[in-house]
Amino acid sequence: MIQIKKKAICILILSACIAAGNKAFAQKQDINQKVEALLAKMTLEEKIGQLNQYNGDWEATGPVTKDVGNKLDEIKQGRVGAVLNIMGTEHCRTFQDAAMKSRLKIPLLFGQDVIHGYRITFPIPLAEASSWDMGAIEKAERIAGTEASASGINWTFAPMVDIARDPRWGRVMEGAGEDPYLGSLIAAARVKGFQGKGLGSTDAVMATAKHFAAYGAAIGGRDYNSVDMSPRTLWEVYLPPFKAALDAGVGTFMNSFNDLNGIPATGNSYLQRDILKGKWGFKGFVVSDWGSIGEMINHGYAKDNYEAAEEALKAGSDMDMESRSYINNLAKLVADKKISVNLIDDAVRRILKKKFELGLFDDPYRFINPEREKTSLNRPEYVDAARDMARKSIVLLKNENNLLPLSKNLKTIALIGPLAKAEKELKGFWSLDIDKNEEIISLMDGMQSHAGQTKLLYSQGCGITDTSRKGFDDAIAAAKKADVVIMAMGEAPDMTGEAKSKSNIHLPGVQEELIKEIKATGKPVIVLLMAGRPMIFNWTADNVPAILYTWWLGSQGGNAMADVLYGDYNPSGKLPITFPRSEGQIPIYYNHYNTGRPAQNDTDLFYKSAYIDLPNSPRYAFGYGLSYTNFEYKNIELSKSTPSMKDNDILSVSLMVQNTGKYAGEEVVQLYLRDMVSQPVRPVKELKDFKKILLQPGETRRITFNIRKDELSFYNDKLERIVQPGTFQIMIGSASSDIRLQKSFELTN
Ligand code: NOJ
Repeated sequence: MIQIKKKAICILILSACIAAGNKAFAQKQDINQKVEALLAKMTLEEKIGQLNQYNGDWEATGPVTKDVGNKLDEIKQGRVGAVLNIMGTEHCRTFQDAAMKSRLKIPLLFGQDVIHGYRITFPIPLAEASSWDMGAIEKAERIAGTEASASGINWTFAPMVDIARDPRWGRVMEGAGEDPYLGSLIAAARVKGFQGKGLGSTDAVMATAKHFAAYGAAIGGRDYNSVDMSPRTLWEVYLPPFKAALDAGVGTFMNSFNDLNGIPATGNSYLQRDILKGKWGFKGFVVSDWGSIGEMINHGYAKDNYEAAEEALKAGSDMDMESRSYINNLAKLVADKKISVNLIDDAVRRILKKKFELGLFDDPYRFINPEREKTSLNRPEYVDAARDMARKSIVLLKNENNLLPLSKNLKTIALIGPLAKAEKELKGFWSLDIDKNEEIISLMDGMQSHAGQTKLLYSQGCGITDTSRKGFDDAIAAAKKADVVIMAMGEAPDMTGEAKSKSNIHLPGVQEELIKEIKATGKPVIVLLMAGRPMIFNWTADNVPAILYTWWLGSQGGNAMADVLYGDYNPSGKLPITFPRSEGQIPIYYNHYNTGRPAQNDTDLFYKSAYIDLPNSPRYAFGYGLSYTNFEYKNIELSKSTPSMKDNDILSVSLMVQNTGKYAGEEVVQLYLRDMVSQPVRPVKELKDFKKILLQPGETRRITFNIRKDELSFYNDKLERIVQPGTFQIMIGSASSDIRLQKSFELTN
């Protein structure tokens, strides 16, 4: 009886799946037909209009084109397909109204850089990446997407999935750090978060994987600079997060400002046509970065905008953001027979398809609902989520003698430093000031609501970039009156972000001198470091007993910091990027090759690929981060020692992790692999998997990782993905620099 019931249920589920599949198929067919029907009605000018994107009436996020005509008039003439930087239902309505006056009434896309929250500001993306918590990251983007879509936005220029191995690069703050595996998981989580149940839901915004490709590898970390990279590094390190975003269903890609080996990404057919639309079968559209089509003139790749438009369209850039190269030149390029209408049609089809999928043809105003806008922003549960995300983003770098968490019985705490009372700064770069009254919780605010009877003193000590020590005496006096000193130090928020690269990434001004003076008082000192990039702070790292790296945590930052300081949340963040000891070590990353003279053998001067004035090791390694408790790793076991890994074979690795301390805590158990001998050579370590687990004091858990053959594969010099038999080393640990258990296995075929 039970068997029959089960069978019936299976049949029902199967039929439902087939029905759902058929429905999806029918919808796709339907959209394709609608696109073709519309395309057939469009004039060449109207088609070109769809490929044109203008900046709206909010802030400009790129060089503004002067002396332009009336944009609303152009929209009415069908000369614009999308507008960026326009927010709020009222503004979007004005623009959509204009589009509805055009001959074919093709709705506009409204694009916006929703980088870390919309109305509620979440931590910067690099901070969120420190959580290694895909659920929390997806939720953060779900909230950002819900808020943005209630405000008229239907398209976000996020996530930025560029791998970055250079903390001088200002945009390191916008990505997920240096690792392709972690970066890929985060890329997928962000896309899923933004797009929610999929394009067509009213609370989904279409996501953009940017910047395609290799933008994060700008030489010298200077923004917009050239990239010179081997094809293998491109495929192994820089492309995987883009592929992950694509597999997660991302609607659009944005290309990048840089040239890649001499060919600007915007005019790069290898990237956009061969890889993205060819090998990967991407069906969405590619938007240029701001003005990047026209910038091919500066690159020296095109003589003028006419040539730039030709190169960009041929290379697969579908929409022109703000350079006006397409709107001003495509018609002539067609007339001159330099490009075919088919090429334009392909780009138009891709754009119209997304507009249909978003449901804009059913209702161009579906994201423009002032009632929804009023009730969907700044909800209390969003504020809670922002606080939770912020706590998870904090990394405990040092905690000598368990100085942290703070006791609730302290009489006096001195809060010192330029960021102790900072509010707006906590939002970090590229936060949107949607509501000027957004409540921002400073560290001081957060401490006040946690401190109970403890008296809080405050002294600024110095400004962020001050060269003067005139505030030091006041700060020293405050420190002397306190049982514990908390110092809030760091960069200014606009020291990272677009066009914010720095050659000197030390803690700015006299801040480290102030830390030295306060430490000299003999009081216990805890330093909180706020920044959008890894900074250099060697004296502090060597001499201060407790350090928390808090990045820019968003509007709930102060609560999150206080939660961690008082142990209401046990820090669990792990660095998604290597922290150097000196700018001279950059680029520095954990997954490097061993070289012929590896640095660990430093007894022979001629035998190390290192500096004579610096160790090769970083200050803090990728994956590093402490907890208030301790975790013991033991009993590693392999399911087989000589696996033959046929295509679907799995090799299981299990181990026990025990919380041996007195606080409940989360640990990110990290699995790295090394292919010991291979041609070409493989990195000394590659992150292949991790698990974030919560353990109560004394609790032990068995964890199992399943290694698939695919995880042992890599690109050979012909860019074929291969697996070579031989010895592999499995390394499991708490950081790339803190491997606790190892085991090797022989792959037999
Ligand atoms: C230029 C930036 O590189 C890109 O990431 C952003 O989306 C556009 N400007 C639009 O603001």
